Amino acid sequence: MFETSDTSGLTGAGSGAAAFVGDIRQPRGASNAFERDLVAGLSVKPRRVAPKYFYDAAGSALFDRICELPEYYPTRTEFAILERNARAIAECIGPRADIVEFGAGSLSKIRRLLDAFEPAHAPRRFFPIDISADHLEGAARRLHADYPWLHVHPVGADYMQEGALGDLEAASERRVGFFPGSTIGNLDPDEARGFLRRAAHLLQGGGLLIGVDLVKDPDVLHRAYNDRQGVTAAFNLNLLRRANEELGADFELSRFAHYAFYEPRRQRIEMHLVSRCAQTVRLGRHAFAFDQGESIHTENSHKFTIEGFRALAVSTGFEPGPVWTDEARLFSVHWLASPPARASR
Ligand code: AVJ
Repeated sequence: MFETSDTSGLTGAGSGAAAFVGDIRQPRGASNAFERDLVAGLSVKPRRVAPKYFYDAAGSALFDRICELPEYYPTRTEFAILERNARAIAECIGPRADIVEFGAGSLSKIRRLLDAFEPAHAPRRFFPIDISADHLEGAARRLHADYPWLHVHPVGADYMQEGALGDLEAASERRVGFFPGSTIGNLDPDEARGFLRRAAHLLQGGGLLIGVDLVKDPDVLHRAYNDRQGVTAAFNLNLLRRANEELGADFELSRFAHYAFYEPRRQRIEMHLVSRCAQTVRLGRHAFAFDQGESIHTENSHKFTIEGFRALAVSTGFEPGPVWTDEARLFSVHWLASPPARASR
């Protein structure tokens, strides 16, 4: 069984007889972490909250709806890239690998990869890691039902946390990371470098398959984060609803506006919640006074050029391999090999 409360999430992954281990829980103290980080983030100017807090059950469901939106091109484009190149990608992954998916969500993309393998070469074990433990557990159950030969070990954890992946290190013969959706874009450049460095270490002798959204016409980007149905707005505002529900805050959702724009110098979408009026919000014993027009910065979504991303990968210890993209060059999927320990250090 898994202890998902701290750093030991993956212990014992190889020893179980059961092919599905569903006993995952929200990391202990998770709600306290949300409270602590929210209070800290609202106490600095400009105010900010980490995007990982979007993903309670309601937020994960809203994100799944975003992925279906006509304006939100990344999900379907990445899907098509995975599907069209599944054979070549399976070659890179290699036979009987253990796959670790970071920020796994609803586990639909891994299916495209699993379908591409000859039975004898199919991955052996699958470790989806996601902060939204309940959402992940349901998805893991459904995945195992459809791929009964695959050992599925869901881990309810924040994969960015130092040491969250530590105990996997001893367990695998060939370990491959899967990081789709351009979630890497949520990280600041320094965080992205740190994550990739840790991943390169964890995946030595294997590699990382990673989806990376590309710089493009700002109008296309703008529409993807300002959809007509308002699902992205609801997703952004859900953060405040969650704070009310879990922490007893008194955010009035109608007094905040979803605001998302492309910042070309930093090559990123920024999402904010902007106070529509002067107001005071209470959270526990804290009171936060907002000016009209003051924002809470809730997410960055960095975009990359193919060359820029490959250079980043090299600087963190990977050896970039093939890159797959769509005809319109909206999105890219990269194979990054992680050389075996001897060669790299
Ligand atoms: C998949 C987390 C990277 O930044 O495009 C979608 C999240 N935010 N719409 C992205 C998101 C607003 C998404 N990530």
